[in-house]
Amino acid sequence: MSLKKKINLKQLPKHIAIIMDGNGRWAQKQGRDRTFGHQSGVNAVREAAESAAELGIEYLTLYAFSTENWSRPKSEVDALMSLLVNTIEKETPTLNKNNICLNAIGDIESLPEESRNQLLKTIENTSENDRMTLNLALSYSARWELTEAVKLIVNKVNNGILNIDQIDQELINDHLNTAGMPDPELLIRTSGEYRISNFLLWQIAYAEFYFTDTLWPDFTREDLYKAILNYQCRERRFGKTSEQLLNV
Ligand code: FPP
Repeated sequence: MSLKKKINLKQLPKHIAIIMDGNGRWAQKQGRDRTFGHQSGVNAVREAAESAAELGIEYLTLYAFSTENWSRPKSEVDALMSLLVNTIEKETPTLNKNNICLNAIGDIESLPEESRNQLLKTIENTSENDRMTLNLALSYSARWELTEAVKLIVNKVNNGILNIDQIDQELINDHLNTAGMPDPELLIRTSGEYRISNFLLWQIAYAEFYFTDTLWPDFTREDLYKAILNYQCRERRFGKTSEQLLNV
């Protein structure tokens, strides 16, 4: 039986987050420069987005550029930014064909003007699509996001819009970039690294982690199916005991 057919469609994660890692090593293994790895990573992005949407995943969040990535060599940052602009522009018809809405989380203001404008244009042009939200984390880090949320909340308290007693987990959720989205139930990281790298630290409180040695450009739809099947074998207890879960 194909892996896709083994997936229980009634127990799909609503939200999958992916740390796409290994583009540089993939390219270097072939004696090519790192940019070639990022370019090849775009095919894996397309395949992951299409296959997730086909299955019925509602949100797919991809870590495309972290706050820390700004300290890479300028030539690599420039290449990544122009790849993002070109890809986002080129892929708009495919996003529309697949009924996928593009969204971005992160410090979008810090992106070069051209990248930011293209991103905002595609977000606008795909905003009516409702099969899946493809969330690109760009110039994103969880500590940045949490710091911004704290500033927003403190500002509201200082201006008398909020009372301190009203601060609870739901209110914090509402001030994150992911406001209105369910938390990811499954977090995938490629390339054999076992780190979270400042990604969605608040939102992954109860996520199941799936690590694979596959380098991002080699990540196919079959790898996504494998990760989902693995997730479906996990017992998600949320702090309860196995016995308690059986009695629900
Ligand atoms: C990590 O690999 C990958 C990135 C920092 C960039 C991810 C970007 C893409 C997949 C291409 C464009 C994406 C979109 C959404 C259009 P790495 O460079 O850290 O690899 P390494 O660990 O092997 O050095």
